[in-house]
Amino acid sequence: MIPAKVDVLIGLQWGDEGKGKIVDCLSSKYHIIARYQGGPNAGHTLTFNNSKYILHTIPSGIFQPNCKNYIGNGVVIDPIVFHNEIMSLQKVCPWIYDNLIISKHAHLILPTHRLLDAAYEQAKGKDKIGSTLKGIGPCYTDKISRQGIRVGDLFQPNFKTKYQELVQRHIALLKILEYPTSISDLEIEWFSACEIFNKFNLAESNFYIQNAINNHQQILAEGAQGSLLDIDFGSYPYVTSSNTIAAGACTGLGVAPRQIGDVIGIFKAYTTRVGSGPFPTEQDNETGEKLRKIGHEYGSTTGRPRRCGWLDLVALKFAIQINGVNRLIITKSDVLSTFDEIKVAVAYEINDELITHIPYNLETIRNIEYKTFKGWKKDISKAKTKNDLPKELFTFLSFIEEYTNTSIELVSVGPDRNANVWLNN
Ligand code: GDP
Ligand code: IMO
Ligand code: MG
Repeated sequence: MIPAKVDVLIGLQWGDEGKGKIVDCLSSKYHIIARYQGGPNAGHTLTFNNSKYILHTIPSGIFQPNCKNYIGNGVVIDPIVFHNEIMSLQKVCPWIYDNLIISKHAHLILPTHRLLDAAYEQAKGKDKIGSTLKGIGPCYTDKISRQGIRVGDLFQPNFKTKYQELVQRHIALLKILEYPTSISDLEIEWFSACEIFNKFNLAESNFYIQNAINNHQQILAEGAQGSLLDIDFGSYPYVTSSNTIAAGACTGLGVAPRQIGDVIGIFKAYTTRVGSGPFPTEQDNETGEKLRKIGHEYGSTTGRPRRCGWLDLVALKFAIQINGVNRLIITKSDVLSTFDEIKVAVAYEINDELITHIPYNLETIRNIEYKTFKGWKKDISKAKTKNDLPKELFTFLSFIEEYTNTSIELVSVGPDRNANVWLNN
């Protein structure tokens, strides 16, 4: 029998591409949905039966009663956020205590990580990253500097000492950053939230996914954030602190590169970004406002308005290459239905030269070359089959496929689980 492969689903832009919705749609085809990086900075929205759920730490397969959900070693968990998520889901997902498995190797976000996040942002002033302030950067910093605390440490006899030592170091740093601190209330809540881990199956070793592969389980790795927020390949320093690209699934779950199967890339029909940093196709004007209004572009985690702009094919092509995407899914085309004209960036202009790659410094881009498409001016939100989609939309999709040399298999036309048009059988 051919050994099972792990498929990976990732966002190809600056996050919020609709990953949660698509993972939920695909989850009935998989035995396990596994998160491999990020933490409560993520906000993945799922909509079905007229209800909306936003997941931060928990994988988006949790609503499928027959699907296991795994939080991998590469994820960082804030026990308080995690506890609140469980509380809000346990009624709708009574199977949650059986179906959710957590790696003992995942790192814990401490209350002082959140304070440090805020302190660093404050110190950066106008150059701030625009972090979600969930403690992500400081937690990954401690992981890399080999002083982090992991889920498994909660059950070790020296846990309290380890915690205190790390917190003292954080407090010293907060003093240097002149950030006022009072952690006693936060600590009480944090320790109480940590009790929740007693109710779950914790994966003892990093072999959970390898065992599942050996048992021919179909696995989908669910990425958080987007490729342009990747710590190595994103718009540094305006990025998150993990490898969001498909390669992150190898280290964040314990999967060998040769065990990766399909790489499913999700992108919006336009572009959004929350937080600071360059955004070449941003429309800081009426067009951007219209996209935000129709697309309800407000952060799922922080509620901040998302910056909006046209689809950037130069960046999309790069993201497809760096991830090895072989299956493309487009979301939110329905948001463009009232536009007379729709634009896509096909090249950047730097020093009077047109380039079709991402430059070292995105701020040096002077101009954007756009291709303009005629809008379809037809509500597509009820479309079920290819025949329900207008020809102008196909012209738009064909151009994207040609430019990126990758075919689009699914057009998502609304937030609901069932609002999808499959282009191939
Ligand atoms: P994620 O972080 O990638 O999971 O995306 P978010 O959940 O943060 O943001 C995507 C938003 O768009 C959510 O509110 C979804 O319900 C919504 N959404 C997803 N797909 C579609 C679509 O095809 N059309 C519309 N109109 N909304 C969508
Ligand atoms: P999902 O999984 C969109 C952005 C923040 C900020 C930068 C660093 O829902 O797509 P961090 O909190 O990681 O230190 O923030 O990254 N960011 C996201 N933007 N979607 C997300 O997740 C994001 N997670 C982080 O806005 O610019
Ligand atoms: Mg999101």
